[in-house]
Amino acid sequence: MTLQLRVYVPPHPLIKHWLAVARDAATPSVLFRTAMTELGRWLTYEAAREWLPTQETTVDTPLASCPATLIDPSVPVAVVPILRAGLGLLEGAQTLLPLASIYHLGLERNEETLQPSCYLNKLPEKFPPQTRVLITDPMLATGGSMLKTLEELTQRGVDPSLIRIVCVVAAHPALQKLNTAYPGLIVYTATIDGEVNSQGFIVPGLGDAGDRTFGT
Ligand code: PRP
Repeated sequence: MTLQLRVYVPPHPLIKHWLAVARDAATPSVLFRTAMTELGRWLTYEAAREWLPTQETTVDTPLASCPATLIDPSVPVAVVPILRAGLGLLEGAQTLLPLASIYHLGLERNEETLQPSCYLNKLPEKFPPQTRVLITDPMLATGGSMLKTLEELTQRGVDPSLIRIVCVVAAHPALQKLNTAYPGLIVYTATIDGEVNSQGFIVPGLGDAGDRTFGT
């Protein structure tokens, strides 16, 4: 069986709404941040399906015992926001995954070569086996930053099948690279855009998500 990258674009009105707000060049930073938070929340909600580990148990209602399902607290869950723009999605993700450990990874693309370089790495030396990892980064353009992140994670023992990527705009070049390097990987995104221009911007995209989030 050949594994293939799976890209989910949840057809949800709240995701469509906040994507439209984020795309609009007239949206001010304060509202752009809200859009990122909401997209982080709803895309994480979708990504948690069949990813967040649960355990079967029983609970006593005021009237009787009944079977119940709880989140399994013994399985580690981690969120890796790619700085800076990934921070915008983190708040929404964290509200749904309050027990997750957060490991920041700071990557910056060189404006000419578009190659990412790492200026902050708070990843642990080794992740415990079975750790579920959610990566947040609103933009997958050339895919260089995400490939670098996946390399850092897999070197530290993370199983790619336990990774979920939450982004907002995924461009074809990035998805093609991910499919080649990590078939079987699962991506949740608000939309897929076709083009990356010569400056590395996704078209139509939403501009520079980091600058728009932080008003810089
Ligand atoms: C942007 C974006 C992604 C990356 C995507 O970050 O937020 O992390 O570029 O591009 P790629 O797929 O071609 O690697 P940037 O380097 O501009 O940093 P920032 O988040 O601090 O703005």
